[in-house]
Amino acid sequence: MEIVIQPTPEAASRIAAHIIANLVREKPNCVLGLATGGTPLLLYRELARMHREDNLDFSRVTTFNLDEYVGLAPEHPHSYHTFMEHNLFRYINISPAQTHIPNGVAKDMREEGTRYEAEIAAAGGIDLQVLGIGTDGHIGFNEKGSSLASRTRLKTLTAQTREDNARFFNRPEDVPLHVITMGVGTIMDTRQILLLAFGERKARVMAATVEGPITAMNPASILQMHPVAKALIDEPAATQLAHADYYRWVYDHKPDWQRFVKQT
Ligand code: GLP
Repeated sequence: MEIVIQPTPEAASRIAAHIIANLVREKPNCVLGLATGGTPLLLYRELARMHREDNLDFSRVTTFNLDEYVGLAPEHPHSYHTFMEHNLFRYINISPAQTHIPNGVAKDMREEGTRYEAEIAAAGGIDLQVLGIGTDGHIGFNEKGSSLASRTRLKTLTAQTREDNARFFNRPEDVPLHVITMGVGTIMDTRQILLLAFGERKARVMAATVEGPITAMNPASILQMHPVAKALIDEPAATQLAHADYYRWVYDHKPDWQRFVKQT
């Protein structure tokens, strides 16, 4: 995993936006994997700006979101459908038919998981996946103990995640218990990963993810096995990394061409 430490979330999000913009320009019909939560908001704002001011064209882009709350219909104010509409889709020229988010009110969640996987496969797989990280190491909503080979399916949230996400709801008890999420295996199949993590709240889990053992007890740690994964983090999120100085040194000595492009 490549670790890029930036002074601010804004600086890290700008790099992520540049990488995505380069991909969209190189491959206008690319498939993007998108995340929700507080972390990608600055990235989405920058992509919207690039669309508005730099003519970044999303008309042929397809997107797949990581997850959705079970029991929340797309039009529910706290659904991830609504989140994506309010924070990105309404600001760019993406075709609604090309945006995909698991259906949190599907009758049969097993069938919904299979259907979602088939849609990703039919689109040719995900070229680039944006990820945040839970304070407990979840990616998507793959909580601790998730099979590292899992596919899209129903999961039960931990008390910690429900507490962390309560700020998006009117009352803590309104946070759903269940979610439908891409699996760890689904995420690992994507061709490139950008993991964003900001703030001291994420310092402990980032150290475990980057420098700790690979374990289902910290599902994000499997990203060490991904061939093209980049963690873009701010200084507070880097405070518990044992080798932060080395990561900074590596980044500072990169040839310019390598910063914003897919590295294979
Ligand atoms: C949420 C999402 C994750 C996200 C994580 C971190 O519950 N399902 O995809 O990465 O938790 O959230 P935040 O960015 O708000 O810290």
